[in-house]
Amino acid sequence: MDIKTRQVIREDKEIILDILRDEIGRQYAEEINWEIDDVIYKRRNARGIVMINPEIIGYASWRKRVESICLETIGIRRELRGGGFGSELLKKAIEFAKVDFPNAQMINLVTDADARRNISFYAKNGFEASGIVNDEFIYGTPQIHMSLKI
Ligand SMILES: CC(C)(COP(=O)(O)OP(=O)(O)OC[C@H]1O[C@@H](n2cnc3c(N)ncnc32)[C@H](O)[C@@H]1OP(=O)(O)O)[C@@H](O)C(=O)NCCC(=O)NCCS
Repeated sequence: MDIKTRQVIREDKEIILDILRDEIGRQYAEEINWEIDDVIYKRRNARGIVMINPEIIGYASWRKRVESICLETIGIRRELRGGGFGSELLKKAIEFAKVDFPNAQMINLVTDADARRNISFYAKNGFEASGIVNDEFIYGTPQIHMSLKI
C-alpha cells in the first residue's frame, strides 16, 4: 500500500476531531483536545501523523515517556475501516517514532479492556497484553495495557 502520511499541522485539527467523533467517549474529549494541540506544537514530546488518500483519512499520535513511546490515539475514517489502512498507519507511526526517539525500547498503549475489536487490531499488529488495570480512568472500566518491543 502506497499511501501518503505527514506530520500534523494546525489546519488538520477539525478534520481529526471529525474522524474521532463518536468513537472516543465523551469522558476523553478534554484529553484528546490537549493531545492534538501538543502534537501540533510538538509539546511534551508529543508527535502525530495524518494519512492522506487523497484527503485526510486517518490520524495517529504518540508521546515519548521516559524510555518508551506511548501510542495515544489512532483512528481511521469510519467508512474506510477494515481495509488495512489502520495497520499501515500504525506501521508508519512506529517508523516516525523510532526516528524521533531512537532510544525508545518499547511502544505501549492503553485501551478499554472490553474494546475487543481494538484489542484484536493491536494483537494483529504485534502488540501483546501486559496487564489489566481496574478503574484507571473511569470507575468501573478496566483498561488493558499492551506493548510491542521495537
Ligand atoms: C482501530 C482502527 C484504527 C483500525 O483501523 P482499520 O483500518 O479498521 O484496521 P485494519 O483494516 O488494518 O485492521 C482490521 C482489524 O482491525 C480490527 N478492527 C477494529 N475496529 C474495526 C472496525 N471498525 N472495522 C474493521 N476492523 C476493525 C479487526 O480486528 C480487524 O481485523 P479483521 O479484519 O481480521 O477482523 C479503526 O477501526 C478505528 O479508527 N476505530 C475507531 C477509533 C478507535 O477506537 N481507535 C483505537 C483506540 S484510540
